[in-house]
Amino acid sequence: MTRILWVLLSAAAALAAPVALGAGDPTEGKQKAESCGGCHGPDGNGAAPIFPKLAGQHASYLTKQLHDFKTEKRPEPTMTAMALALSDDDMADIGAFYAAQAVQVEAAQENELGRTIYRAGDPQRGVPACTGCHGPEAKGNEPAGYPALRGQYAAYLSKTLHDFKGKARYNDTNEMMRVVAAHLTDEEITGLSEYIAGLR
Ligand code: HEC
Ligand code: HEC
Repeated sequence: MTRILWVLLSAAAALAAPVALGAGDPTEGKQKAESCGGCHGPDGNGAAPIFPKLAGQHASYLTKQLHDFKTEKRPEPTMTAMALALSDDDMADIGAFYAAQAVQVEAAQENELGRTIYRAGDPQRGVPACTGCHGPEAKGNEPAGYPALRGQYAAYLSKTLHDFKGKARYNDTNEMMRVVAAHLTDEEITGLSEYIAGLR
């Protein structure tokens, strides 16, 4: 009896384990993303700076965020409502569509403080260099789960860094970004956001 129960429990655990995400279909994704264009732009370049650009982002990062919105691991009223209607297949297709679009990089902003922290961090205060994970051109590292940041709107970057710092956003694996953002000052967040927006 106990043994049967154990087998059933293991089977249930296997079903609840993170789904293996197959590659999506970008053509299907384009149609499924029609309702997103009003905010994120028809090609994912964001209709206004408060709406993050999705163009050129890694498909697996986009899919993870949509899952996290849906399950409220990243609670955000608008996006949770949008993601509730999406199946795993929809998310994979939409992720494939946006990943295949070209990101429009903002006009380069010189920001010396942002540049220094991005490239070297501040070891004395325990701030790691962003390059270590996001790369010198902020293209990220898809297999490792580090998103691309280059060309993203400064207003969104700043908002989400403040959210990590204040722990309003807590869907980062192993608290990686909460640990990083905890030590950043407001001035550094502004500087980093301006610097990253101009990276290409
Ligand atoms: C009414 C405006 C609106 C609509 C429509 C909308 N979004 Fe969003 N989306 C947002 C906002 C605002 C955010 C930023 C949330 C935050 O600050 O954490 C966001 C964030 C996201 C993110 C996270 C981006 C990142 O870099 O982490 C993804 C992915 C996303 N949306 C996908 C979609 C998809 C797919 C659709 C259509 C099914 C959609 N959105 C429709 C407003 C919208
Ligand atoms: C140890 C690796 C690591 C380091 C170092 C790191 N990050 Fe991240 N970063 C991540 C991961 C992982 C995520 C994705 C979290 C998730 O899945 O939601 C992320 C996400 C982000 C996001 C959100 C992107 C989006 O589209 O919403 C921003 C902005 C960001 N990082 C900025 C920075 C900055 C600025 C630094 C340097 C001060 C930095 N990161 C250092 C691992 C890292």
